[in-house]
Amino acid sequence: MTKITEMNKIKLPGDTITLNNGIEMPVLGYGTYLSTDEETRSGILNAIDSGYRMIDTASYYGNEAAAGEAIRTSGIPRDELFVTTKLWNTDRGYRSTLDAFNRSLELMGLDYLDLYLIHWPANRKQFGAGASGANAETWQAFEELYKQGRVRALGVSNFMPRHLKDLYETATVNPAVNQIEFHPGLTQKETLTFCTDNDIAVQGWSPLGRRSVLDSEPLIRIGADHGKTPAQTALRWSLQHGVVPLPKSIDPGRIEENTELFDFELSGDEMDEIDALPEARQGGHPDEVDF
Ligand SMILES: NC(=O)c1ccc[n+]([C@@H]2O[C@H](COP(=O)([O-])OP(=O)(O)OC[C@H]3O[C@@H](n4cnc5c(N)ncnc54)[C@H](OP(=O)(O)O)[C@@H]3O)[C@@H](O)[C@H]2O)c1
Repeated sequence: MTKITEMNKIKLPGDTITLNNGIEMPVLGYGTYLSTDEETRSGILNAIDSGYRMIDTASYYGNEAAAGEAIRTSGIPRDELFVTTKLWNTDRGYRSTLDAFNRSLELMGLDYLDLYLIHWPANRKQFGAGASGANAETWQAFEELYKQGRVRALGVSNFMPRHLKDLYETATVNPAVNQIEFHPGLTQKETLTFCTDNDIAVQGWSPLGRRSVLDSEPLIRIGADHGKTPAQTALRWSLQHGVVPLPKSIDPGRIEENTELFDFELSGDEMDEIDALPEARQGGHPDEVDF
């Protein structure tokens, strides 16, 4: 299943779901956006100690070398870790995508990636009628890397249903993952439904709403009823929506806190109350961004 459907069977952050191409992906990931090299190294090592098995970085974050170093020196066999990086917007296109992938892998000092994502769709605001073609050309290079065995799964990020529908027009390998902004205050219903219907696993970025969930009254109250923090409540809410959260923290205590999600359950009413929080998008809208 590309979705977390049986939460009661999941006990550890390294437990997995099966992607649409048969590979296993952990149900929790460790985020590294805005982490310095030193924070990236120590954060990843602490995360691995706390049981995370999926690491999320990106060419844009400038910390792939530090991430790769931590992964290589963690003492955990490479095939027990799930490593994701992303193609930045200035590298779209067939040849430049292949070059960017090689640069990322070299910086990380790794032989292969578990997941490579197109960081943002080329949108009509910037590319006009050429947007679909730009994404298709990039995806062709992704498929080449996949066929060469250099990446175990392909995905996209910030793709809405219209971007995915366009991609399907020419794709011969369908995306296995879509990484989107997802947290209390941004439920992305249409995209989530489209992904579920098309067997695409969803990862949630900024699952703590970049700290905005921490002082949300319903999250504080509902969490306290379960003996949990608002951060844990938000992450559990993601999981119960079938979305794999990617919390980022550089603090060992909070890194650990963000793994303690598998010993409580939010009721239907609690889920509904959190779903109803007013919209509070933290990042850019995929159709509006101009970077
Ligand atoms: N694909 C995309 O376009 C995209 C965009 C944005 C992010 N991402 C990915 O998603 C990851 C997570 O998103 P994010 O970093 O934007 O935001 P986030 O995970 O929602 O929030 C991170 C912030 O929350 C704090 N925090 C973490 N755990 C906490 C806890 N238990 N209690 C209190 N505060 C806590 C962190 O501070 P401390 O570090 O001090 O704990 C940090 O300031 C990124 O790191 C990146 O890997 C992807």
